[in-house]
Amino acid sequence: MATAKAHTNIALVKYWGKKDQDLIIPQTDSLSLTLNEFYTTTTVNFDNHLTSDLVAIDQHILSKKEAQKVAHVLDIVRQLSGIKSFARVDSINHVPTAAGLASSASAFAALAGAASVAAGLNLSSRDLSRLARRGSGSATRSIYGGLVEWQKGTDDDSSFAQPVLENVDFPIEMLAVLVDTKKKKVSSRSGMQSSVETSPYYDAWRQVVANDMVAIKKAIKAKDIDQIGHIAEENALRMHALTFSADPGFTYFNGETLTIIKAVEDLRNQGVNCYYTMDAGPNVKVIYDRGNRNKIVEELSNIVGPERLVVSQPGPGIKIWNE
Ligand code: ADP
Ligand code: DP6
Ligand code: CO
Repeated sequence: MATAKAHTNIALVKYWGKKDQDLIIPQTDSLSLTLNEFYTTTTVNFDNHLTSDLVAIDQHILSKKEAQKVAHVLDIVRQLSGIKSFARVDSINHVPTAAGLASSASAFAALAGAASVAAGLNLSSRDLSRLARRGSGSATRSIYGGLVEWQKGTDDDSSFAQPVLENVDFPIEMLAVLVDTKKKKVSSRSGMQSSVETSPYYDAWRQVVANDMVAIKKAIKAKDIDQIGHIAEENALRMHALTFSADPGFTYFNGETLTIIKAVEDLRNQGVNCYYTMDAGPNVKVIYDRGNRNKIVEELSNIVGPERLVVSQPGPGIKIWNE
């Protein structure tokens, strides 16, 4: 039996499309910031009395269908370790589930960590990152803290994350604006798939990401928060252009998303530098230098209320322990 705690990460250069659905090999590289405030803890117990895997999220037991992605990762761990028994998985999300706040990132990183140690495996960080990838692409990056890149690779062996800057030594901060924490209608998995298959802009997106990866790593080296924020904002808009341009077109934004985008632009016009990014959900994350935090929080509190704002520092990598 083992437990792991993994933090979520928010991509500054987004992953939005797979080359290989089963192995989860992405179309492009991506780069993210691990967050201190949002995480998942997962306990895995292989038990030879069980007749199937038993998975609970926040004490709610999943149906067989809902537990499919977890069972898939457990199957890989069974294959690697030779263990035959089923497992009991208990997971607690300290992050809204399936709302575009990257619950699948922290969830599958924590699962990979807990399941591998519970099975007696002693995987390297790289192999843990590869295992987490099999559950959810974004989970690949949640093995590490701070700023992390996922190199797309070409196959199972070569597709994994690595730290760009684990201990972030400049004052970047991220504010999550929780406009709606209900479960999304279009999962990240199906949303990105339809974008790859039907958006006429997909080729341009590959080029955008290749350029943004180079530029953002340069900005990180220079500790240039404005440049990092600007690249992230443009990248997010271009990712969301893939959903609008899919057939049928769709969006993860709602009216409040646009209200927050406008508020961030207004703050910037007043000389308070901050930048927005959105994932597969309506919630907005704001990137800024923490010296600007009070002004940003004050302004956005007036719009959504202080209870819907969560300020987060960069977070740490995964921790795993035997029970
Ligand atoms: P998000 O934006 O939250 O990452 P996704 O659509 O990518 O949304 O993934 C949400 C799915 O991830 C859930 O429907 C569920 O299948 C899975 N998931 C989320 N949290 C957990 C968890 N703690 N344990 C197992 N699976 C989880
Ligand atoms: C918009 O990792 O949730 O958050 O690999 O199908 O599980 P699957 O998708 P997921 O997609 C994340 C998409 C994103 C951008 C990102 O995190 O890079
Ligand atoms: Co996800």
